[in-house]
Parts: sequence; C-alpha cells; structure tokens
Amino acid sequence: MNDQRRHTRIIVTHYGGPDALQLLEEDRPEPKDGEVRVRVLAAGVSLPDVMMREGIHPETPTLPFTPGWDLVGVVDQLGNGISTLERGQIVAALPINGAYAEFVCLPQRELVPVPSGLDAAEAVSLVLNYVTAYQMLHGSANIRPGQRVLIHGAAGGVGSALLQLGRLARLQMYGTCSSHGASTVSSLGGIPIDYQHQDFVTEIRRFTNEGVDVVFDGIGGTHIWRSRKALRSGGTVVAYGITSSLHGGRLTSGRSRGRHRFRAVAIFGLYIAAGWLLPGRKRVVPYSIQWLKRLRPGLFRENLIALFDLLHQQKIRPLIAKRFPLVEARHAHELLEKGGVTGKIVLVSNGSASSEQNE
Ligand SMILES: NC(=O)c1ccc[n+]([C@@H]2O[C@H](COP(=O)([O-])OP(=O)(O)OC[C@H]3O[C@@H](n4cnc5c(N)ncnc54)[C@H](OP(=O)(O)O)[C@@H]3O)[C@@H](O)[C@H]2O)c1
Repeated sequence: MNDQRRHTRIIVTHYGGPDALQLLEEDRPEPKDGEVRVRVLAAGVSLPDVMMREGIHPETPTLPFTPGWDLVGVVDQLGNGISTLERGQIVAALPINGAYAEFVCLPQRELVPVPSGLDAAEAVSLVLNYVTAYQMLHGSANIRPGQRVLIHGAAGGVGSALLQLGRLARLQMYGTCSSHGASTVSSLGGIPIDYQHQDFVTEIRRFTNEGVDVVFDGIGGTHIWRSRKALRSGGTVVAYGITSSLHGGRLTSGRSRGRHRFRAVAIFGLYIAAGWLLPGRKRVVPYSIQWLKRLRPGLFRENLIALFDLLHQQKIRPLIAKRFPLVEARHAHELLEKGGVTGKIVLVSNGSASSEQNE
C-alpha cells in the first residue's frame, strides 16, 4: 500500500476454513505510551493459527481478530516512555495473535532485539517453533546426551526444530512423518518412521527393545496414550499439541468448538493423572509456550536470545517451506492444511516473497 498512513492486515471474520481470512485496509495503528510500532518483515504461519481460525485453540480471541503468533520486524515509531529501543532496530515478538499485519503496536517489554544480518524468515522461525522445542528439550524433558527420543511430526515446524536442537544435544532420535518428510528427518539426524504405514510403537520396540526416554507428542488426544507405550519405564511424554483435532485443516469431529477446547484440556489432565497413578513410572507432562512466557517472560527472552546466537553461528538452520506475501495469507493456510509441508511457512512483507523447498 502506497499511502503512508494506511496499512493492510488480515482478519478472521468467522470461525471456519481459509475463506475466513479477509484483507482489511485501514489507518496504521498509533503506539500508546510504552508501546512501539513495528513494521512487520516476517510473520510465521503455524498450526496454532489454523486452530485459532477454526476457533478450537484455547487462546482463540473473540471475532474479528488478526491471527499470527510470531513476528520479526523493524522498529518504526516510538510511543512515549521508550528508552531501550530505537527506530530502525530489528526486533522479534510472540504476540500470540496480531502478527498478520504490515504494522503492529506492542509494549516495549514484548520485543526482543534480533542480531543484524539474519534473514527475517529464518529468524521468525525461532520465535515460536524453536523456543518451544528448546524449552521442551532442556526444561520439560531435561534431556541428557545419548538419550533416545521419539519426535512426532518430525518434518513439521516444531518437529524439525526438535531434530536440529536434539542433534546439537547429541540425542539418538526417531521421528514420525509422512513419506514426504522422510528424507528431511534423515538429513536432520533422525530415523524416520512413516506414521501412515507403520505402527510407531512396534517400530520403537524393534529399534530400542525397552522403549525411548522421551516422546514429544504434538498430536494429542488418545495418541498420547500410544506415545506412553513407546516409553521405557521411567520415561516421559511431553504433550504439547492437538494436531489430531484437525484433518486437512478442518475439525475432525462434529463437536462444537467450545467442546473441542474443553475436551483437549480434559484429555491432557486425564493422561497427566494416569501417569502418576499407573505402574511403570511413566510421566505425561504438558508444555505450553504461552503459559511459560506469561509466567517466566525473562526465560522466554533468554532462550530466544540463545537461539538467535545459535542461528548467527550457523549451528541451526530453520527450514523455510515457502514465503508468501502477506496478502496471500489464505494460500499459506491452504498449503499448510494440505499437509506434507517440511519446515515453516512465512508471510513476508511484499516484495520479498520467494519459493523454497515445497515448490
Ligand atoms: N504447546 C505449545 O507451546 C505449542 C507451540 C507450538 C506448536 N504447538 C502445537 O504443535 C503441533 C505442531 O505444530 P507445527 O506448527 O509444528 O505444525 P506443522 O508444521 O504443521 O507440523 C505438524 C506435522 O505433524 C505431522 N503429522 C500429522 N499427523 C500426524 C500423526 N498422526 N503422526 C505423526 N505426524 C503427524 C504432519 O505431517 P504431514 O503433513 O506430512 O502428514 C506435519 O509434518 C500443533 O498441534 C501445534 O498446535 C504447541
């Protein structure tokens, strides 16, 4: 958009399919006291965005809302009382919603400086996916070198981050994926298990006899129970997602959206309790980036800065599935829902879109 006072953002007008994403042209937002206006260079597209669009994610805002969990952008205008940031600086944030826009205003405390020279799409991949992976590996699972782990959805956004960080931590890794993702999983150091044609519990027993130390399960529902069966005695399932609530991007059951949200939380609770009560000392622990960030914002910032450093040193290299211009957000959701995507889909400011691995 050429008018210097206007900008474009995407809004979800009703809960449903990709057609719920609409373009809105409006005046640019003005930063309030303590806020910074950011010109968005890159916004991540992730399954949690799709779940919010469908109205089933626990964090879903009321309608209409702008989706977008994570962003990287340039500081464009400072509100009153801003002391630690300056115009032109590159920053990252996890606003949970609102990132699908040309401009956003955020409180100064939400913004984390990004080292210069990083690609914005690669940098934004760290904010949601890699912080999630990092905190689950080093916090929830407290992994140690040589341990054996099973990663579900290993070619996806969080899954590929777990593989890259797991390799740095010298883990022995197995990863479920569809046939599209097998070569990616192998190239990132995991042994692929085709979840559509193989039984992962049988495969894990065949590879390891006693089972793995940790399973990272973003699939959710009754799948968590199967993951528990792949554990050795004393092992841990880290449960962090509800991918199984969607098929082809749409709800997998006729339950109301409210009941979906309630059921997902109830199943987590049930499995956590079962982990304590049943024999075998197998624990199920939940992980939520939004709750960790709310409760321990300093840790979120510290972990993201550590990850930017790893990217800067080229010790990690996020996989970018495809870059879309912001105005093509609907196509980005359609691609994600089709499945078989390896890595992260990113919305970029107009002009810098390009095709990558999933062409
Ligand atoms: N708790 C948190 O803080 C947190 C943070 C971030 C994400 N999440 C959750 O994590 C999950 C993954 O998010 P994402 O952005 O990484 O999604 P993504 O990039 O779409 O990756 C999901 C992957 O799962 C695979 N998959 C689908 N069904 C599977 C099954 N039954 N078994 C094994 N793999 C399967 C898909 O493979 P194919 O497409 O090839 O079938 C895809 O590669 C979502 O549920 C999301 O809500 C939670």
